[in-house]
Amino acid sequence: VRTLRPVTAEELPAVLGLMMLAFRAEASPAARAEARAASMDPSHTLGVFEDGRPVATARSEPLPLTVPGGRLPAAGVSQVAVLPTHRRQGILREIVRRQLDDARAAGQAVAVLFASEGAIYGRYGFGVATYEAHVRVARRRNAFRTPASVAGLRLAGFAEAVDEMLAIVDRVVPSVPGALRRPDGWWRHAAASPPPGGVPWEVVLRAEGDGFVAYDRALDFAIPSLDGGSLRVHWLFAETPEAHAALWRYCLDVDLMDEVTAWARPVDEPLRHLLADPRGLESSVWDALWLRLVDAEAALGGRTYGPGEPVRLSVEDELCPWNAGTYEVSSEAGCRRVSAAPDLVLPTDGLAACYLGGNRFTTLARAGRVEERRPGAAERADRLFAAPRAPWCPFHF
Ligand SMILES: CC(C)(COP(=O)(O)OP(=O)(O)OC[C@H]1O[C@@H](n2cnc3c(N)ncnc32)[C@H](O)[C@@H]1OP(=O)(O)O)[C@@H](O)C(=O)NCCC(=O)NCCS
Repeated sequence: VRTLRPVTAEELPAVLGLMMLAFRAEASPAARAEARAASMDPSHTLGVFEDGRPVATARSEPLPLTVPGGRLPAAGVSQVAVLPTHRRQGILREIVRRQLDDARAAGQAVAVLFASEGAIYGRYGFGVATYEAHVRVARRRNAFRTPASVAGLRLAGFAEAVDEMLAIVDRVVPSVPGALRRPDGWWRHAAASPPPGGVPWEVVLRAEGDGFVAYDRALDFAIPSLDGGSLRVHWLFAETPEAHAALWRYCLDVDLMDEVTAWARPVDEPLRHLLADPRGLESSVWDALWLRLVDAEAALGGRTYGPGEPVRLSVEDELCPWNAGTYEVSSEAGCRRVSAAPDLVLPTDGLAACYLGGNRFTTLARAGRVEERRPGAAERADRLFAAPRAPWCPFHF
């Protein structure tokens, strides 16, 4: 017999061990799972049990998501795993069904996740709502157009710096569409735990309190040469242009490092504009936050819109039929359901992809994924949905 239900605190370590195993077998996931479980609320984790033994799991925790002009309660889906012996039997589909129903009952207007593989979640109505740039700057191309001051920087460890980092994160996240921040419990656990891969993270803070960078360094201590060092930026938050320039300059100049990489930067990372050679910022763009409209009316009503004429969008949604219908979106009135004929017809994952302003309706129309029933409607929708800056989710979860 197979059952799907929230796990208990006692079951959580075993279920986390299963999740770690499904992603990559570890020598001893049990010890790490035990420590991690202590920082988590078990009621947000579902387990699938077969004859009393866990065979699959998934988590969905409440995470407020920044949207243009506001913040919405979101279901943050993570730790989705099915044992290799139980794959392709429809377990993931059952889990997603349950999570979407739970999110709706909890008043979470959208669900968001990072996908391990790009082919999994489109079928469930998730669309790619934000992108991220994985960037690299080689030492020989790292000069700035104009010098940046690196005065007043302080080097600290993660645990020591965590409160100052969080204060900055909490000021930045509300102004970036697509951003969310992980709960306090996660930060405390991360600060207190040995780093993943065993290499400690270093944190550099500005005396002004307006930015920080967290990174680690890889260096092969081969004699006689110490070539090949790589500084890997995990997070760089700056509230001012001075902080942004200083923190990047610092990273680019750390001794013995041949390159600096950063794996989750906004696609409009301003560093390119600081470099004397803009080509010095090598960048590859990937899908980042996947978003699903759990309650389309609440989600569309929960953000603000740019100027221009109203647009009527007709949404198709098989998995969440309560979303199907036509919505009129306007700068003044926000969103309301209407019965009038639509200007645009699109599937729910298409609307999800455009929801934060990270994709254009006109782009989807060119791909044949949006049907324009009134000429110019996709362009008008683009103006309404445009975000003040490129949507970006700085934290994977
Ligand atoms: C990804 C994973 C959770 C899928 O679980 P599952 O129980 O095998 O999925 P289901 O049987 O419910 O499959 C549902 C559908 O998704 C498809 N699918 C599942 N995983 C897929 C993948 N990795 N790539 C492409 N399609 C996939 C199935 O073919 C099926 O298609 P259908 O509805 O057209 O028949 C599981 O393979 C796993 O644990 N992988 C390792 C960990 C991981 O990647 N987790 C995802 C975290 S974001």
